[in-house]
Order: sequence, then C-alpha cells, then structure tokens
Amino acid sequence: MSDRIILKVGGSVLTDKTREKCLNVNEIDRVAGDIASANVKGLIIVHGAGSFGHPQAKKFGLDVSGKRNFIEVALTHEIVKELNRELIKRLVENGVAAVPVHPLSCAISHAGRLSEMMICHIELMLENGTIPVLHGDVVMDTAWSISILSGDQIVVHLARHLGVRRVGVGTDVDGVMDGNRVIPTITPKTFNDVRALLSGSSGIDVTGGMLGKVNELIKLTDDNISSHVFNASKMGNIANFLNGKENFGTIIRSERHGTNL
Ligand SMILES: Nc1ncnc2c1ncn2[C@@H]1O[C@H](COP(=O)(O)OP(=O)(O)O)[C@@H](O)[C@H]1O
Ligand SMILES: [Mg+2]
Repeated sequence: MSDRIILKVGGSVLTDKTREKCLNVNEIDRVAGDIASANVKGLIIVHGAGSFGHPQAKKFGLDVSGKRNFIEVALTHEIVKELNRELIKRLVENGVAAVPVHPLSCAISHAGRLSEMMICHIELMLENGTIPVLHGDVVMDTAWSISILSGDQIVVHLARHLGVRRVGVGTDVDGVMDGNRVIPTITPKTFNDVRALLSGSSGIDVTGGMLGKVNELIKLTDDNISSHVFNASKMGNIANFLNGKENFGTIIRSERHGTNL
C-alpha cells in the first residue's frame, strides 16, 4: 500500500467566499503551519479557488456554455494563481518544499470532465520529496473550448492515478451535515437519501458547493478509496487528519469494509 496522502483545502478556508479576491491571511498562515508541523511524507495538496476564481468565473460566465473571451479566461487563471502563490509562499516559509502545479498547463477536460492530466511530473516531485500544490482552475476543453475544473474533481483523478492511501477534504463546515448533525458515514447505498440534504455553497461557488463535492468523492468508492470531509477551519483538524485520526467529520466509503483509510 502506498503512503501517499491527498489533502484538499477548500477555498472556503483560505478566502472569504462572499467577497471578491479576499484572502484569509491568518488562515493561510495557520494551514501552512499545520501542514508543516504534521511533517508527513508523500503529501499532495489541492486547494480550491475560493474568492480567487469563483466570483470571476461567474462574472465572466465561464461556468456556462457560450463564446469565450480568452482575456477573461486568462484573468481568471492569473487570479487563482495568486492564491496558489500565497499558500506556497507560506508553506515554503514554514520549511515545506511546496511546488506549484497549474492544471491549465497540464490538464484537459471534455465537456467539463477532466479527461487527461500529466502525472509523471507529479510522480517525480513526490519521489524527490517535494509537495505538489494543485488548484481548481480554468482548463482547455475539447468540447467547450474551456471549462472550470474543480479542486474536488482533481482530488478524485489524482487519488485514482497516484495510488493514494488517504484522501482528506477540508472545508468550512464540520462535515456533510444533516441540519446540525454531522453525518458520520456516507456509502453509495446511503448517498441517495443524503443527496436531498446537500446543496450549493453559502458563498459564491461555481462547482456546486457540498453537493458538487460529495458527487465527486462518491465516485472514489468504485475504486474502494475512502475520503474524509472535515472542517479545516478548526484548529488541529488538518494535523489530526494528516496523523491518521478519523473520529471527526464525514467518511465517504464503499460498502466493502477494510477501507483504505
Ligand atoms: N448538507 C450540507 N452539509 C454541509 N455543507 C453544505 C450542505 N449543503 C450545502 N452546504 C454548503 O456547502 C459549503 C461547502 O462547499 P464549498 O463552499 O464549495 O466549500 P469549499 O470551498 O471548501 O469547496 C458549506 O459551507 C455549506 O454552505
Ligand atoms: Mg467548493
């Protein structure tokens, strides 16, 4: 079994999703510090775009079909790269060898679904002890010219192709919620009932909020890969996930027991 771990940090944690281009500077510092202190090997980080991508994509209509203005596409990509740079800067300052991987430069979608992503350089980054940091992005699309690729979709693709052992998806709520209650486990059987409880984001999010997230993560159960949705805005949770704790948040897993978590 590989010792690779994917940690997704939601844009909801790193930014204020109700306002355009608003960094949660203290949160970026804390997240970088938590990751550095956990000091795990084989880590891949994916972050969402938050207010550095979603509002712009919405404003430019990049989330719906139609003719593309490539200046707007380029602007949206540059803005999400700003967030990526901020996170990487703080990771490096904390002694983490974090390196950027921009999906626009190495991935293609077809009708909004990720169809190809260059993986060999990520393998080499991991073999050399660096931590690749990917993000939700605009990507070239063989059907629609461009489309939005969510960090959640990237997580699923990388987990499948990199032989990942644990997948953690940090967001700004305590897990997948039924009102005030955290749903501890979701399986493909229970997902049909849970789906009715899920909706989009309270902030601006063009990739479907919690519904979009769980719709992606449930696909991993086909490969018997479990994922863990938890509140990354709460101090200690990122370190707890990285250190292998599972007694918080929501675990999305296949019906089969003996999961990889
Ligand atoms: N049943 C639910 N449980 C938890 N969150 C939900 C649920 N339904 C809708 N949401 C919304 O989904 C948001 C998380 O998704 P999102 O904003 O896309 O986060 P991220 O930026 O981490 O991807 C929550 O903050 C909440 O507003
Ligand atoms: Mg989201």
